[in-house]
Amino acid sequence: MSSYKLKNNITRLVGEVTIPGDKSISHRSVMFGAIAHGETRVTNFLPGDDCLSTISCFRKLGVTIEENGHELRIIGKGFDGLVEPNEVLDVGNSGTTIRLLMGILAGRAFHTSLVGDESIGKRPMTRVTGPLTAMGVKLDGRKNGSYTPISIRGGQLQPIHYELPVASAQVKSAIILAGLQADGETTIIEPTETRDHTERMIRQFGGEINKDNKTITVTGRQKLTASTIFVPGDISSAAFFLVAGAILPESEIVLRNVGLNPTRTGIIEVMKRMGADLEVVQQNDESFEPVGDLIIKTSKLKGTIVEGDLIPRLIDEIPIIALLATQAEGKTVIKDAEELKVKETNRIDTVVQELRTLGASIEATADGMIINGKSNLLGGKVSSHGDHRIGMMLAIAALLCTNEVQLEKSDAISVSYPNFFPHLNSLIR
Ligand code: S3P
Repeated sequence: MSSYKLKNNITRLVGEVTIPGDKSISHRSVMFGAIAHGETRVTNFLPGDDCLSTISCFRKLGVTIEENGHELRIIGKGFDGLVEPNEVLDVGNSGTTIRLLMGILAGRAFHTSLVGDESIGKRPMTRVTGPLTAMGVKLDGRKNGSYTPISIRGGQLQPIHYELPVASAQVKSAIILAGLQADGETTIIEPTETRDHTERMIRQFGGEINKDNKTITVTGRQKLTASTIFVPGDISSAAFFLVAGAILPESEIVLRNVGLNPTRTGIIEVMKRMGADLEVVQQNDESFEPVGDLIIKTSKLKGTIVEGDLIPRLIDEIPIIALLATQAEGKTVIKDAEELKVKETNRIDTVVQELRTLGASIEATADGMIINGKSNLLGGKVSSHGDHRIGMMLAIAALLCTNEVQLEKSDAISVSYPNFFPHLNSLIR
């Protein structure tokens, strides 16, 4: 178990960071490269632990993937090119890998066993195994198919008309990937719009998918063609520096190459509403995913309410938004965010527990948290609980702490941002 003494009592952050590739898009670039026909080239791939788990699973499914750090070459032979693996597929800590993989394997007439780490073993899978079973797949797992280890024997799929009970891009994507292999038209209705990287990827690989408000329709038995993918920087990684720049005195940070897909930009809206001095420059909407640069400067902040349709657009940023709120005047309420309980950790509990340890005024509610600012953060011994985003949030919190901060389980950060500490250290003045 790794333990790391975080930098504390920092006066200002100044400089520039080029944000590494988006985790969600990196996963999908491997998956679509694998199920398309031909040679897909990926640049600015994120070589974080989660995306490496996806590569490892697809290699075991018979796909040739050459990886050279941030660059990939994938030789896809279509869905039919996937072969029954000789070994168990281990998804590590990655919910996106296991859930999207189930959608792909649903249409494959062979057996696969899926396992993951301790955190994956606690994450609900019925939300995916349920609709896939309705499409005709044989799936089983611990506790009646609810948890890993999961075994799956795919085959001929029936299309479904499915109303998602939760706003989840992972569940939506699993059904779309199964729908691509079904006989006929699959319809999915989202309760609230979620990230649409899967839909954009399908079009980028020459496929067709229709979206009318919250209704998505995809026709089965489509042939996808290899493509060239540039992965934009991950706004969920940029979020840590956005908040750091806003809350540390006299700071100015330029963040380059940030993905600005509107289904992911909730954090920009919330920060602006709280009074952040945040500017989007050099936005380029020409590629299949919009990208741009962000400039953040220190400013005075005020509390806000984060709720409703905004939640899926910033779900992964809530831990760092909670820290931001500790430095804003007044009360911030985060609600409608029950989904936080089934992330890499129960993020309502872990955020509240760890920020309290540092001296924040924060309480958990049934569907979120309430934070009273502005509070002085002191320091102490904290833990990521094995959750990358909790670890990075605590490293940013430590910058403000007057006393020492020791972070337990710091190695979790490599799940989504292996270069996080070098990037952070380069900004410290
Ligand atoms: C992801 C979707 C989100 C997000 C996760 C990545 C994806 O999960 O929290 O980090 O790549 O589709 P849900 O779709 O389960 O909300």
